[in-house]
Amino acid sequence: MRRIVFSLLFVSACQLQANPGLDPCPTGAAPQWQDVQPFFENYCHRCHHSGIAGDQRGGAPILSNFDNAKMVDDAVTRIYWRSAHGRHSMPPAPPSPTAAERKLLGDYLSCRFEALQNGEPNPPRQPKQGTLPR
Ligand code: HEC
Repeated sequence: MRRIVFSLLFVSACQLQANPGLDPCPTGAAPQWQDVQPFFENYCHRCHHSGIAGDQRGGAPILSNFDNAKMVDDAVTRIYWRSAHGRHSMPPAPPSPTAAERKLLGDYLSCRFEALQNGEPNPPRQPKQGTLPR
């Protein structure tokens, strides 16, 4: 009996993962990495960056880093649940993103989630850059 209960629990956990309940990617132009990169720079990198060590991380787990689009893809649902629109547990202290910034982040993550489900590249393809040197 106990075995049956455990396998039922396992099956329902798998279903949760297959359908984590993110909002759908909005129709129209999907936000691009460049649109949300400042969000990570302004609100996350002081704790969640591979270049930040020890006490400087403010307690952020050592492998929880969002340096670039690939790393954000790899944590797409985790970030959504903590920081997208209507979810405010990250960052844990000010400065805090505006509602509009969280909405943009949520849209980006929903679109990336769907793209990854559809087998599209990780990290996202970047639109062509201009030829001006930076
Ligand atoms: C002041 C430091 C600090 C800042 C800034 C911060 N975090 Fe965190 N973060 C933490 C700490 C501490 C934990 C571990 C405790 C917890 O999970 O609440 C954590 C945990 C997390 C986790 C769970 C671990 C994981 O990788 O799944 C996620 C996701 C996360 N943060 C996302 C973010 C995002 C996105 C931002 C920027 C919007 C952000 N955090 C900004 C300190 C920070």
